[in-house]
Amino acid sequence: MLLEVEHLTKNFGGLSAVNDFDIQVAEGEIVGLIGPNGAGKSTVFNLITGVLPVTSGRVMFDGCDITRRQPEQVARLGIGRTFQLNPLFHEFTVLENVTSSFELHPYSSLFDIFFSTRKYRRNEAFIQEKAHEILELVGLSEEADELAKNLAHGHQKMLGVARALATKPRLLLLDEPLAGMNPGEIKYSLDAIRDMRANGMTVLIVEHNMQILSLCDRVVVIGFGKKITEGLPGEVRANAEVISAYFGADYVC
Ligand SMILES: Nc1ncnc2c1ncn2[C@@H]1O[C@H](COP(=O)(O)OP(=O)(O)OP(=O)(O)O)[C@@H](O)[C@H]1O
Ligand SMILES: [Mg+2]
Repeated sequence: MLLEVEHLTKNFGGLSAVNDFDIQVAEGEIVGLIGPNGAGKSTVFNLITGVLPVTSGRVMFDGCDITRRQPEQVARLGIGRTFQLNPLFHEFTVLENVTSSFELHPYSSLFDIFFSTRKYRRNEAFIQEKAHEILELVGLSEEADELAKNLAHGHQKMLGVARALATKPRLLLLDEPLAGMNPGEIKYSLDAIRDMRANGMTVLIVEHNMQILSLCDRVVVIGFGKKITEGLPGEVRANAEVISAYFGADYVC
């Protein structure tokens, strides 16, 4: 397993936001983590990436215990993520938003940058080339020189994904990539995520839009911080407890 989360628990005062929660992701898989509002999905991401300290439990990445690592260390080890509120540099171009994410992999020293050495220029050319490849992957090539603030909402969300990809992750965590999108944007985003998987990316996706199920190998369902069930997308869609968690116990299909 690339990611193994065991007995993960996070208490905020009297509230148990995540409660004895387990999830695993194998290399090359797309795993969905779905659940209603306030279920604990983003908190799970914040615990995996070291943004919040765990109350108890363990996070293993590629066989290494990363439970108490700082977010920058987790990123360097190869876990990239997007955020639900999708922070971007709105006054920068799309391309600049991506190239600025390459900082985590500094190829140049300050000396190289200051004197614009040949090594620095070669690194810059490399970063530009890689950034264009990433924009191609998420379908934003034609918007490369556009200011981020001028993009449609769906394209802004995919720019957040592009920025995460620039950190060269082995595992990508996407927090509600479809939120607020219209049907056309959803289709475009699902296609882009499918392309990433075809390129060998391992992805854990948090969503409460059930359309995400169409691209997942496996799905884990969380409610009130606890795992409700997990299984193949078809199994999860038909699970009575999942239907009740989403629509209330009285819902009839
Ligand atoms: N920093 C915090 N301090 C206190 N409570 C928090 C904090 N972060 C999250 N919570 C609470 O923990 C619970 C889980 O929140 P979380 O954001 O993980 O849910 P979510 O599944 O991502 O929901 P959504 O679908 O609305 O994004 C909620 O009750 C939330 O109010
Ligand atoms: Mg959330």
